[in-house]
Amino acid sequence: MTSAAGVAVVGGGQAGYSVVSALRGAGYVGPVTLFADEPHLPYQRPPLSKNAHTEQDAVRVELVPESFYRERDIELRLGERVTALDTAAGAVVTGTGTRVPYGHLVLATGARNRRLPVPGAELAGVHALRSLDDALAIGRTLTTARDVVVVGGGFIGLELAQVARALGARVTVVELADRLLSRAVSAQLQEYLRERHERSGVRILTGVGVRGIEGNGRVERVATDQGVLPADLVVYGIGAVPRDELARAAGLAVEDGVVVDEQLRSVTDPRISAVGDCARHPHPHADGLVRLESVQNATDQGTLVGRRIAGSPAPYRSLPWFWSDQGAIKLQIAGLRTDTDEMLVVPGDSPERLAAYAFRDDRLVAVETLNWPAEHLAARRLLERSAPVSVADLAGSTLGALARARRSAEVRS
Ligand code: APR
Repeated sequence: MTSAAGVAVVGGGQAGYSVVSALRGAGYVGPVTLFADEPHLPYQRPPLSKNAHTEQDAVRVELVPESFYRERDIELRLGERVTALDTAAGAVVTGTGTRVPYGHLVLATGARNRRLPVPGAELAGVHALRSLDDALAIGRTLTTARDVVVVGGGFIGLELAQVARALGARVTVVELADRLLSRAVSAQLQEYLRERHERSGVRILTGVGVRGIEGNGRVERVATDQGVLPADLVVYGIGAVPRDELARAAGLAVEDGVVVDEQLRSVTDPRISAVGDCARHPHPHADGLVRLESVQNATDQGTLVGRRIAGSPAPYRSLPWFWSDQGAIKLQIAGLRTDTDEMLVVPGDSPERLAAYAFRDDRLVAVETLNWPAEHLAARRLLERSAPVSVADLAGSTLGALARARRSAEVRS
């Protein structure tokens, strides 16, 4: 399906980059335009919360250099925000008033951080963390900060807490829920992770709300409902919401994300696709529709849509997986778990290692591991093939050992 009007991709993150890269990789020859509201070349976000960043690091997080786009005739429109979609005419309208026609449009607009809804959140020294510019702003104070308060005990908060701790700051995490990582991991792992963070010297307050941030022009204190914490840097990571407002304004079906079919086409307009954090899609591993925030999802969905537009359609079936590096803790997740799944927690062969296996109707559906990459990879391989694994199969064993035993049984038979 080639159109003279070509493909317009809105969003210059991991998902948008994956679309344009896959289009050319699969031989699409029409015009390709990538719109990004940030002024930077598409870059990786995961490293931003795992180190203190300086201006010199900006190039290091770029996904590919500028020459990649030039050599493939991909038009990059950086710092140019798409402000409206004219779906009847098949065109995007940008902030400068320019209209760019499309044959196919891909929304890869990502998610935005929830803002901290308290007085003082606009003071200097209070930061959210999503963009490279956020990371550079945090990096400028992180190395000298003495008292760091992290609001939100999710992926971003706990990663950043460990970075600040490693630089010698006193670090307090203030989490509103009763548990850390309540969205992302099983209750079994939440307890274990809390203990690990506390052992590293990070103070964890759960079930505590932030009332306000105070200071004279710059943050000095965080007022919580259980007392006041001194702070010269506050970083908050309290979740994200999809950037689906363009789609909503254009009349596309939107439900906490752009609603798409199994080939990631808008259910309202098949000339429009949505990929990555902003897409709500059917998935064989989920009941109903899901919206996933991960690099794997952005990459695999972007690639799938790029290939489809270039002429090779396929349904989206990739196994979801996630990771989070929190200081010395490497958390990896394969598959999708729900709170009603039966959990089996197995210690690894060293005290730092642990695996939590999730079963639904006695069938393995997800695996969370700590500092155990081999077991994570074994889980991914088994879950990708939908190989049945029951609680009894795992008794006294690991997925790595089980996969090896099954392979040698196959060879013998
Ligand atoms: N005060 C304190 N904590 C809060 C508040 C609040 N007002 N509101 C929410 N929280 C807590 C939630 O209970 C949760 O534990 O903030 C945490 C947010 O965790 P995540 O949902 O994991 O979101 P975040 O860490 O911000 O990550 C945002 O970045 O790394 C990616 O995959 C991640 O896409 C996600 C995004």
